[in-house]
Amino acid sequence: MNAPLIAPSILAADFSRLGEEIARVEQGGADLLHVDVMDGHFVPNLTFGPMIVKAIDKLTRLRLSTHLMMTDPEPFAEAFVKAGSDDVIVHIESYPDPRRVLGKIQGFGARRGLTLNPETPFEAIEPFLKDVDVLLVMSVHPGFGGQAFIPEALPKLTRARELKSRHGYAYEIHIDGGIDLDTGPKAAEAGAEVLVAGSAIFKAPDPRARVEEMRRVAAQG
Ligand code: DX5
Ligand code: ZN
Repeated sequence: MNAPLIAPSILAADFSRLGEEIARVEQGGADLLHVDVMDGHFVPNLTFGPMIVKAIDKLTRLRLSTHLMMTDPEPFAEAFVKAGSDDVIVHIESYPDPRRVLGKIQGFGARRGLTLNPETPFEAIEPFLKDVDVLLVMSVHPGFGGQAFIPEALPKLTRARELKSRHGYAYEIHIDGGIDLDTGPKAAEAGAEVLVAGSAIFKAPDPRARVEEMRRVAAQG
């Protein structure tokens, strides 16, 4: 098994010194940053918009993977791309047919991301997989960091991997929520190519070392 990519989720970082927090995980070998946008409506929590994403982009050379937990993100897609998002990930629960928003994201020059909540069956996204660059499987109910991993996400990862190889789809498979040194290897084994982790990295005694440790244990399976 290839070593998975590691995507620290800055939701768990100390925002009063975000530059240092990002620098630490970047030095630790993080492959990309996961950036959680919440609108207070799709989820019962509120974070930030394109203005802060632009500030984050100035702090790092890492790829920014922006996860939009928003009821209607489409009007903001261009602003998030202009702010520096390399991936723009929308929820199938926001748009039962996401083709138009995914087309716009691609047109603005970013990777098209699609995600689904734990209670949403994988079949809901299957018709759209050929038009997706990033497939994010949620393994917690979106809205907050620090929740326990929901193991029912594992068969979704395996299905994502199967369909990818069977049809030659191009998407990269991410797992998001409750990923730590125990669940990361299980997710990688099931098919995850990118491990998104917030608390397990930023709340670790040494976040820099934790990035490398997470990659190592997940590669060993
Ligand atoms: C949850 C977010 C996740 C979150 C993961 O709504 O989408 O990206 O930051 O945090 P941990 O790794 O702490 O579960
Ligand atoms: Zn997320």
